[in-house]
Amino acid sequence: MLSFGIIIFAVNKAIDYYSFITIEKQMMEKADLSELSFREVLAQHRSSSGEPQTKEIVRLALEKLKASGKEVRIYDSSKQLLGLAVDGIIINDGKPHIFEKNIEKALSGSYAYTVTDDHLLYFTTPIQNQFYENAYVYEFVEDISYFYAIMDQIRYVLFAGAGGFIVLITLASLWIARNTTKPIKVLLDATQSFSKQEFRRVHLNRKDELGMLAEGLDQMGQQLHNYIQYQKQFVSNVSHELKTPLSAIRGFSQYLYEGENENEELQKIYAHLLQESDRLTRLINELLLLSRFDKTGSSELEVEKTEMNALIQQVATNMEAKAKEKEISITVKQVDGEPSDENLTKVYANVNPMLISHAIANLMDNAIKYSGRHSKIEVQMEHTSSEVIVKIGDQGIGIAGDEMERVQERFYRAKNASTANGSGLGLSICKEIVERFNGYIDVESELGQGTTVTIVLPRA
Ligand SMILES: Nc1ncnc2c1ncn2[C@@H]1O[C@H](COP(=O)(O)OP(=O)(O)OP(=O)(O)O)[C@@H](O)[C@H]1O
Ligand SMILES: [Mg+2]
Repeated sequence: MLSFGIIIFAVNKAIDYYSFITIEKQMMEKADLSELSFREVLAQHRSSSGEPQTKEIVRLALEKLKASGKEVRIYDSSKQLLGLAVDGIIINDGKPHIFEKNIEKALSGSYAYTVTDDHLLYFTTPIQNQFYENAYVYEFVEDISYFYAIMDQIRYVLFAGAGGFIVLITLASLWIARNTTKPIKVLLDATQSFSKQEFRRVHLNRKDELGMLAEGLDQMGQQLHNYIQYQKQFVSNVSHELKTPLSAIRGFSQYLYEGENENEELQKIYAHLLQESDRLTRLINELLLLSRFDKTGSSELEVEKTEMNALIQQVATNMEAKAKEKEISITVKQVDGEPSDENLTKVYANVNPMLISHAIANLMDNAIKYSGRHSKIEVQMEHTSSEVIVKIGDQGIGIAGDEMERVQERFYRAKNASTANGSGLGLSICKEIVERFNGYIDVESELGQGTTVTIVLPRA
């Protein structure tokens, strides 16, 4: 708009300038013709009577030139007005407005002109005598309002055209913006869902670069999807294959451990074997659980109306032994109720109790694992008219802000988690379980202060 404004301004100025040059040229031609007529009078007068009679010359010249302008004037070399004619009528004693500067300029030998506010052009030109002296100044007045009218017309056309052009350009820019930003938004949305591992087909109905980009993205999404599926299938197969030998190893380690009563060194080794095979069994079981999730839809899971208070209480009781090892206390409380109150409001959710217990146990396990000795874990249950909210808060090592999102990914462990063993699957399993029952989890944490993980489930 700005550059367009500048162009319009420049064009307007150019029209002004070139129109004036044209009019100036016209006036010069007219002045030349007038000068010729004037000199004719001078020459005739000289030939008829020897001495030039100024008064007579002026009268004759005015007679001849009176029709050449709205008003014509003749001055002598001392800038005195000798005579004038208005609308073709010769007036000898008028007091018109005289542009002295123009007359001076004419006496020095060049043209000069002035345009008044009422669009009258006063044009002066020198007239030479037989000695080539600027003896007279001839001035004529031309009404150039027609010229201003034409200029206004041109300006009107120019501005109307510019207005139309601006409207057109605005519409065109809007169209271009819509046509380029809309598909870019589609591509952007696709990349965002890809980053969340939600692969869907991307298609733009166009053959240009954006269409090609969409096609490339679509192919990339498909390949990534296939690759991830393949990876999951691989993990699932391996887990299955490992299950049987692992249970054999576990069984034998238990047998060896229980049978060894004398050699303390060996007993330690067998205990270690047993512990590690337990850990591996747990890992395999979790992997199998995840691959079961990958394959089945939520409709295939057994769901029953479950009383959440009792379930949480049960999980907390199960975890107590583990907490005691680090002298950690677990408090379960329902908001608006005393801890372990007998008459708690019963709150139900449609879930698979085994899986939800597993999820909550995973969170409590984390709370114990990532807390120091003698700290406190608080499990709090709240409910709204539509939701059951379970919060598991600890006073442990916390999670750094930039890792908060990633800890919910499979196999991701935070940098400060090396203090405890783990495979990085617990939270992702918990997330998947909760999402299967149309809920979600939320992790809040402050490094060194503690972590609170919230499970939100719809009420039954
Ligand atoms: N309560 C917590 N306090 C501090 N860090 C936590 C807490 N819960 C989870 N984390 C961080 O999130 C990471 C992922 O947790 P997740 O439960 O998925 O795996 P894990 O505990 O390392 O292993 P697993 O649960 O499979 O044995 C952990 O490694 C830890 O860094
Ligand atoms: Mg864990």
